[in-house]
Amino acid sequence: LGKHDFAGKKILVTAGPTREYLDPIRFLTNRSTGTMGYSLAKAAACRGAAVHLVTGPTCLADPLGIKITKVESAREMQAAVEEIFPEMDIVIKTAAVADYRPKITANQKIKKKDGDLSLSLARNPDILLELGRKKKHQILVGFAAETESLLEYAQEKMIAKNLDLIVANNIKEEGAGFGTTTNIVTIITKEGQMHRLPQMTKIDTAHAILDHLRMLAE
Ligand code: C5P
Repeated sequence: LGKHDFAGKKILVTAGPTREYLDPIRFLTNRSTGTMGYSLAKAAACRGAAVHLVTGPTCLADPLGIKITKVESAREMQAAVEEIFPEMDIVIKTAAVADYRPKITANQKIKKKDGDLSLSLARNPDILLELGRKKKHQILVGFAAETESLLEYAQEKMIAKNLDLIVANNIKEEGAGFGTTTNIVTIITKEGQMHRLPQMTKIDTAHAILDHLRMLAE
């Protein structure tokens, strides 16, 4: 690409799923592979940004030239993100953060017994919502993965979380969402403009998102 239009910008990207442990060996998680977040981190670094990637567990190789903090649970992600946040110019929250965690994480492996087992779940903190309350100069970008009423839910989230831009993707659409190499997204700005992008590789999608961000970061 060769353009350095993010030179001097500090960008925090979160990626991947979180793991919410029931006991030392079992956890609740989701199908996120981290590909979209890693693509954004790489694309931003390629365009000159100083990138810090905070990621849940993935099978992806550590990208070169990018600072990386590895976490497991939503609460670990929150602690890492909040520490880095004040110095950042742009925050892109691609991570698929678990909304709930087991109320109790057992210290020992849970033994099976006869009959059913019920799990009690506690709400996790909404990291992006907290950042939206605290933000000063930062540009905040969220992702909305939905299976229905995509654009309405995405817009509601953008307002509720005080975001500048939200990237909506219908994870049921073929060629989009979790575990695919391509994505089909609609970029929605605070001003209510909507741009539906065609099916593209996640790295091309990342560059298209950065093109929109570039205009906001002027
Ligand atoms: O889960 P939800 O659809 O509300 O996610 C929208 C955005 O909020 C995403 O960018 C996601 O990374 C972020 N989020 C978060 N902490 C949560 C849940 C979601 O930062 N606990």
